[in-house]
Amino acid sequence: MMPRSLVSSSDLSVDDIRLMTANARKLLPLIQSGTKKTLNHLSGRTVATFFCEPSTRTRCSFELAAKILGAHTIDVSPEQSSLTKGETIADTIETLVTMGVDAIVIRHTEDGLPQAMAEKYGKRIAILNAGDGITDHPTQGLLDILTLIQQFGSLEALQGKKMTILGNITHSRVVGSHLRLMQQLGVDITLVAPDFFMPSVIEREKWHAQYCVNFTEEFEEGLENADIVMPLRIQSERIDEFELSLMGRYAQGYQLNHLNVGMRCKPGFVILHPGPVNYNIEITEELANDPNISRIRQQVACGVALRMAALHWCIEG
Ligand code: NCD
Repeated sequence: MMPRSLVSSSDLSVDDIRLMTANARKLLPLIQSGTKKTLNHLSGRTVATFFCEPSTRTRCSFELAAKILGAHTIDVSPEQSSLTKGETIADTIETLVTMGVDAIVIRHTEDGLPQAMAEKYGKRIAILNAGDGITDHPTQGLLDILTLIQQFGSLEALQGKKMTILGNITHSRVVGSHLRLMQQLGVDITLVAPDFFMPSVIEREKWHAQYCVNFTEEFEEGLENADIVMPLRIQSERIDEFELSLMGRYAQGYQLNHLNVGMRCKPGFVILHPGPVNYNIEITEELANDPNISRIRQQVACGVALRMAALHWCIEG
């Protein structure tokens, strides 16, 4: 059977989203139980993680997911690999393919790199995008959907929910995934940011036409009646010094705390955050860790289950 790659959230249909989240949902009790018995769904298979950017949640959850499914795992750390000797990414992948690896999970700073690798090697190996540049992070979008299904009961229950995403919109790959996936599920998204983190007018018009997304620079207006609020980390590794110097101004005008969310959001609202969280910049530490409101820890558990389902979907079909 041909492997299947998961590189772009725009390739996923509602049926794909339903299938992967339903399978992941069945696996969640295993993750939450603490006793991680090994399953044999991917026994005899090999999964390589290849992260050319730092990561804790995504990298570790993919590795754990592969291990629980019974696969062998290899971590190709770029700084310990022949990339430092001038080998190309393509040659690195070719080497892994020749060794008989079944799937490579790639994170890279370059937009579109996993897509390009899937075009080149996708017939021989499954390529999974674990985040490329500022473009996409499909499994983050899917795991957030799984977290929301757990919260609201079903995929259908997400229809009409109001989700507010705040922060460094221009440099976030997570925003792209959410727009493409949530729009298919009928989630109504509002993007909130000060002008210095807001996409250009042309870009906004394009996104609005494509995804029906709303934009506002008004913090309180953006939170009004939200069911789901997701602050984003300021992507300090991707912004210039001038933008970095505006971090304080961002925190002053847009930091989420118990008071502002409590006053504006819908009763029963929840907070998501892709992590890592920079406490007291985009959100106060108290709010991020409030178990009644924050679903950040649930997202981490959902991440493992979802990546199990994603690896299985790619390797076994
Ligand atoms: C995101 C990432 O690394 O792209 N986090 C994640 O994968 N858990 C978002 C971020 O880094 O802010």
